[in-house]
Amino acid sequence: MPTTVRPATADDVPALTEVYAHHVLTGTATFDVDPPDEAARREWLAGHAGGPHRVVVAEVDGRVQGFAASSRFRPRAAYDTSVETSVYLRAGAVGQGLGSALYAGLFDALADQGLHRAYAAVALPNPASEALHRRFGFAVVGTLGEVGFKFGRFHDVRWFEKPLAP
Ligand SMILES: CC(C)(COP(=O)(O)OP(=O)(O)OC[C@H]1O[C@@H](n2cnc3c(N)ncnc32)[C@H](O)[C@@H]1OP(=O)(O)O)[C@@H](O)C(=O)NCCC(=O)NCCS
Repeated sequence: MPTTVRPATADDVPALTEVYAHHVLTGTATFDVDPPDEAARREWLAGHAGGPHRVVVAEVDGRVQGFAASSRFRPRAAYDTSVETSVYLRAGAVGQGLGSALYAGLFDALADQGLHRAYAAVALPNPASEALHRRFGFAVVGTLGEVGFKFGRFHDVRWFEKPLAP
């Protein structure tokens, strides 16, 4: 199947909304509890229009199967050399290399953005996400115990860090 990883456009908003809503409603990959609607996703995408903060999608046979994003890590200016990255696939698209293809495309696009660190937060357990992040050079910096509450119980979150430039 031909797979393309490319920057997300406004036309991708319905697919981005659908893919993310699945994970909001069914798992702890995200700690959002209410799925953002298309208007909210459009606004989110507008805040990822290029530079250090961007979104790439993986398209297989013309259908978006997932996305990866680099987002502001924290609002204060000294954090601007860091980003937080995330990646979400459709349920039927996991375990086929698409997460790796998305991260490869995302980190290629970030290579000339003057960034120094990428961070990722992985709610435990999530062996696929931990393996993906390790594969892309992330290392564990620590685990926050019971930092989030979703689906009636607390969840631990492991933070991963990746050096991006000397
Ligand atoms: C996490 C996710 C993006 C990984 O993408 P993927 O396409 O399934 O992963 P890939 O096929 O590219 O494989 C990447 C690595 O993960 C490993 N992996 C994949 N699925 C796995 C699983 N279920 N258990 C353990 N390792 C797994 C692969 O073997 C590979 O490791 P390697 O490079 O050491 O061989 C995807 O599974 C997903 O969307 N999950 C739900 C949402 C989510 O958890 N997002 C991350 C939020 S932190």
